Formats: sequence, C-alpha cells, structure tokens
Amino acid sequence: MKIIMLGAPGAGKGTQAKMIAEKYHIPHVSTGDIFRANLKEGTPLGKKAKEYMDKGALVPDELTVEILLDRVSRDDCAGGYVLDGFPRTIPQAEVLDEELTKLGDHVDFAIDVDVPDENIVRRMSGRRACLKCGATYHIEHIPPKKEGICDNCGEPLVLRDDDKPETVQKRLTVYHEQTAPLIDYYTKQGILRTVDGTKDMKEVFSAITGIIDQN
Ligand code: AP5
Repeated sequence: MKIIMLGAPGAGKGTQAKMIAEKYHIPHVSTGDIFRANLKEGTPLGKKAKEYMDKGALVPDELTVEILLDRVSRDDCAGGYVLDGFPRTIPQAEVLDEELTKLGDHVDFAIDVDVPDENIVRRMSGRRACLKCGATYHIEHIPPKKEGICDNCGEPLVLRDDDKPETVQKRLTVYHEQTAPLIDYYTKQGILRTVDGTKDMKEVFSAITGIIDQN
C-alpha cells in the first residue's frame, strides 16, 4: 500500500501519517523529517536544505527526489509506505510515478487533509516538536503529559524555526503556487480523496481509515 498525504503546511499530514504507519505497519516517510535529521547531524544535505527551509521555500527538486528515492528503495518500504511532504511539486510527482511504473507499481491513494489558511497560522504557532524523535504536539489540542517535554524520549520540545508566523505565511504562498496543483494531478488519476482536517484528529483518522479499508 502506497499512500501520499497532501495538504497545506500544518494541516495535520504528519500527525495522520504517523497514525497510518502504526495501524497498517508501514514506514512513515517524511522528507521534512529527513531534512531536519540531517540538519541536526550537520550533514552537507542538512546545511543545504536549511537555506531553503528557513525562508519557507522548497528545497530544489533534484535534491529532494534523490533522498526520497533512496529512502523508499530500502527493504522496510517493500510492503508500502506513507509519504508525508512528498511530492510537493508536479515534477516530483512525475518522477515518483515514473519510478513506480518501472517497478510495475503505483500509488494507491493521495489523501488531501483540507484545512483553510485561516486555521493554519494559529495551529502552527501552537505546535511543539521534538527534534530527537520527530514527535509533534500542540499546546492546546495535543499537549504533552509534562509541559515542554517529549512523552516518547524526554527531550525538550521546541517551536520549529519555520513555524514563526511570517515564515508560515510564506510557506502557505509556496503551497498554493507549487503544491496545490497536485490536487488536480491526482484527481485526474482518480486516486484523490479529501478529508476535513479541521475536525478532531481522531475523526480525521477515522475518515482516513474508512478510505483505506474500503480499498
Ligand atoms: P515539512 O516538515 O514537510 O513541513 P510541512 O509540509 O510544511 O508540514 P508540517 O510538518 O509543517 O505540517 P503537517 O501537515 O505535517 O502538520 P502536523 O501534523 O505537524 O517540510 C518542512 C520544509 O522542508 C518545507 O517547508 C520545505 O522547505 C522542505 N521540504 C520538505 N519536503 C519537501 C519536498 N518534497 N520538496 C521540497 N522541499 C521540501 O500538525 C500541525 C499542528 O497541528 C501540530 O501541532 C499538531 O499537533 C496539530 N494538529 C494536527 N492535527 C490536528 C487536528 N485535527 N486538530 C487540531 N490540531 C491538530
């Protein structure tokens, strides 16, 4: 099973992708998490990606496609995966389709988590992230058990640099210009499904599992 999560920054793609991965026993592959892990380790890829991420811009396709294809070619992805944050441009989607076609394979669903822009900035300012294990929380909706500390690994939680309101606005503009056209792209393929991302996260998940289990 190969699932793509679409949606604006902060729509809840990562939250839902982690739950899908756990329920269906497939890896959660997030290009944003891969870039942040590289940044934390100080790799050349991390340093390069930071230049774009801090501005709210997309990391160039060549760099992103290479790391994604490398990740999904590993053994743990043989039975499928849920992609979170990839593809983000039409060329990225085309490369993924080409590579899957070569393997006689295809994407099963592209699930668009739909949240209006006005909800996004509020959500992002309340998000807290663990840079060690990738867990995310929200100070109002999904708080950690102990304030400011990750439930999973005990690390301090942080506000991501790119979650500051001015960068979020830029990310939203980039989303509408470069990523939203993927909604049409997957609609034409007949595999787009839309869920209302403004609902409680458990209701959103229930809508998603309804889609997957109908398959
Ligand atoms: P990335 O990490 O992918 O960021 P994003 O797509 O902007 O998505 P986010 O992680 O910000 O949000 P999300 O939709 O996963 O929401 P979440 O579940 O955390 O990418 C970061 C950067 O890396 C990009 O800007 C770009 O520079 C680069 N990059 C990555 N991939 C790339 C690619 N393919 N090509 C080029 N560049 C790339 O939820 C948000 C908050 O809301 C959380 O606090 C959460 O707890 C809360 N929440 C979730 N669901 C609900 C709910 N139902 N109700 C209330 N609160 C909720």
